[in-house]
Amino acid sequence: MKTVCLYYSRTGRTESIMKKMADMLDADLFEYTDGKDRSGAKGYIGSCIDSYRKLPEVKIIGDEPDWDKYSRVIVAMPVWAEAPCVVGKAFLKQYSSRFRGELHLVVTHMSKADYGKAIAKAYGYSSVRPESYLSLQTKNHDCGVEIRDFVRKLEK
Ligand SMILES: Cc1cc2nc3c(=O)[nH]c(=O)nc-3n(C[C@H](O)[C@H](O)[C@H](O)COP(=O)(O)O)c2cc1C
Repeated sequence: MKTVCLYYSRTGRTESIMKKMADMLDADLFEYTDGKDRSGAKGYIGSCIDSYRKLPEVKIIGDEPDWDKYSRVIVAMPVWAEAPCVVGKAFLKQYSSRFRGELHLVVTHMSKADYGKAIAKAYGYSSVRPESYLSLQTKNHDCGVEIRDFVRKLEK
């Protein structure tokens, strides 16, 4: 089963998690973006405001994956304002109809909460219903154990 992992990351936490996951799954890895500079305090505030605005246009950096190659798609994004971020929701809305395989979602966040309910809000943006999700607290921890457990479950 060939897997493709796609992520958006403002400050690198989701990126580092997805690099590890893609490595464990021998998956191809792509980054998507809305192209907006969201760095620093100004970027943080802008991202808060954008969480309540119309979804942005997003694109995959580099060539688009050959979707037919992948029987598993893992889409990752940070949580913003108690919900999967607008860039991630926009990605699901724009691209999910192209996915050929099963879909899994990964969200990263600071708080200890399990964002299962918030993730479910992102399901509405996807034309494919996700098979599972992983909610990962990134504050002060590298999530290695959780990533390994998630990968094991996928491989069962
Ligand atoms: C605008 C904004 C809003 C956020 N809101 C939340 C939140 O509601 N709950 C939470 O636990 N973390 C929240 N965070 C923290 C991020 O979800 C967390 O740091 C995430 O792992 C960052 O991933 P990244 O480095 O890939 O961008 C927020 C971050 C930003 C920028």
